[in-house]
Amino acid sequence: MKSLLFLIALLCIASVVESHVDTFRGGRGKDAWKQRTIYQVLTDRYAKHDGSKGSCNNLSKYCGGTYKGLIKELDYIQGMGFDAIWVSPILKNLDGGYHGYWATDLYSLNENFGTEQDFKDLIEELHKRDMWIMVDVVANHVGPVGMDFSGINPFNQPEHYHERCIISDDDFANNQERVENCRLADLPDLAQENDFVRTTLLSWIKDLVQKYNIDGLRIDTIPEVPKWFWTQFQEAAGVYAVGEVFDMRLGYVADYQNYVDAVLNYPLRNAINDVWRYNSKNFRDLANSMNANRNAFKDVDALGVFVDNHDNERFLHGNSNHAGLEAATIFGIFAEGIPMVYYGTEQYYGGGPDPANREQLWTNFDTSSNLYQMLKAAIQTRKDHKTWDNKYVERYVDDNFLAFSRGEVLIAVTNQGGSVGNYVTYLPFSKGDTICNIFNSSDCLTVEDGVNITLDNYQTKVYVKSSNNAQESIKE
Ligand SMILES: *[C@@H]1O[C@H](CO)[C@@H](O)[C@H](O)[C@H]1NC(C)=O
Ligand SMILES: *[C@@H]1O[C@H](CO)[C@@H](O)[C@H](O)[C@H]1NC(C)=O
Ligand SMILES: *[C@@H]1O[C@H](CO)[C@@H](O)[C@H](O)[C@H]1NC(C)=O
Repeated sequence: MKSLLFLIALLCIASVVESHVDTFRGGRGKDAWKQRTIYQVLTDRYAKHDGSKGSCNNLSKYCGGTYKGLIKELDYIQGMGFDAIWVSPILKNLDGGYHGYWATDLYSLNENFGTEQDFKDLIEELHKRDMWIMVDVVANHVGPVGMDFSGINPFNQPEHYHERCIISDDDFANNQERVENCRLADLPDLAQENDFVRTTLLSWIKDLVQKYNIDGLRIDTIPEVPKWFWTQFQEAAGVYAVGEVFDMRLGYVADYQNYVDAVLNYPLRNAINDVWRYNSKNFRDLANSMNANRNAFKDVDALGVFVDNHDNERFLHGNSNHAGLEAATIFGIFAEGIPMVYYGTEQYYGGGPDPANREQLWTNFDTSSNLYQMLKAAIQTRKDHKTWDNKYVERYVDDNFLAFSRGEVLIAVTNQGGSVGNYVTYLPFSKGDTICNIFNSSDCLTVEDGVNITLDNYQTKVYVKSSNNAQESIKE
């Protein structure tokens, strides 16, 4: 009897521990998000609902994408296996704010993207598909109104803002005080130390998340606001948040993870570009950079991993290396962190600096594109093998070849044209196993003392044990 009670007590403790993990931030915490893959859309550029397919004639203006359009084209995103989308900021904006970063009213939505009901419908449709929504939010600034705050709701008084000074390039490098207290691109800089501003922003984000059942946040312009505020904002949000620290200094970026759940991994994105876009560094440098990340960040697996986004010229800008983009993108699906793929990457878009990198997608919903199909296979493998639960293990590295595993998934990449082959002996497989490349079912190898992996022209291969193999072992 005693031991039965003991057993029951143990079971209770186990279930308490488990439910704590499951319910952290209402089940929308960083550990739950580590299992997701995110597709980033600019709401204005993804899809129109009236079916018109014309190109956008001025990328600096509204082009017509809507929530209804997004709902109509969710199959395209889900078809690649993504189970979360990141959308543009949703609030009402100053005229011309197609990107969403020029808010004028905390309490109404941007009518260019549709009605409030349309936004609710989008979230309902996503949740029906077990897809999550990440909303981009801004707490640093409002739309560019100079010194006339009368049109901003509710921050309509001068005391809600800092003095009008503009952050210079030199400030970004050397003067954190000015980064926090001056204006980014002359956008009125909110004074979070003002009680009304602070408490209003905190209750706003809490209510917004609850009202729309938002699953996660991408927070804009993190370094432009003092760190103490982000601790409070993260707490009020109550869901996973990933902040934008648009900076290449590892220590500087990493420290912000002590205040928000995660940040975008700009240092890794830089290292990826150095290897595949500029060919200025090799895989030993990439490995070193990942090691430095592991040491610097509080939780490297919670960071946002990306190649392209709306703030940087695309990988393919001024560069026609499609296979290089494929390698970088698939590497990002299996690297430590939460993958984020910017819309259009799968269609080999190559736009230059903002706004050229914000092309409309509705002219190119092509599910037969090679990278679309590669993402589909890679994301499925990520899920099937729960690679986020398995350590990154380096299996072979030299200047132009990298092989690593996450559990029983072996990823091999190169940054060279021509043919690169290596005999890899340190494997997550056993002698006699047959392993096949997820991108080509006839590309299989039998493991002996190792396997000879050959990559042609920036080719990427991802090997898993073949299913025939698995069936054989079940028969035994
Ligand atoms: C595009 O729109 C912007 C913003 O309204 C304007 O400044 C620019 O002149 C326009 N470009 C062209 C080519 O019409
Ligand atoms: C798939 O792999 C096989 C075996 O290595 C190879 O002969 C074939 O060319 C590959 N197919 C493609 C499309 O690369
Ligand atoms: C691996 O393959 C390459 C190219 O196919 C070949 O040149 C090399 O001899 C092979 N190495 C081994 C150890 O089998």
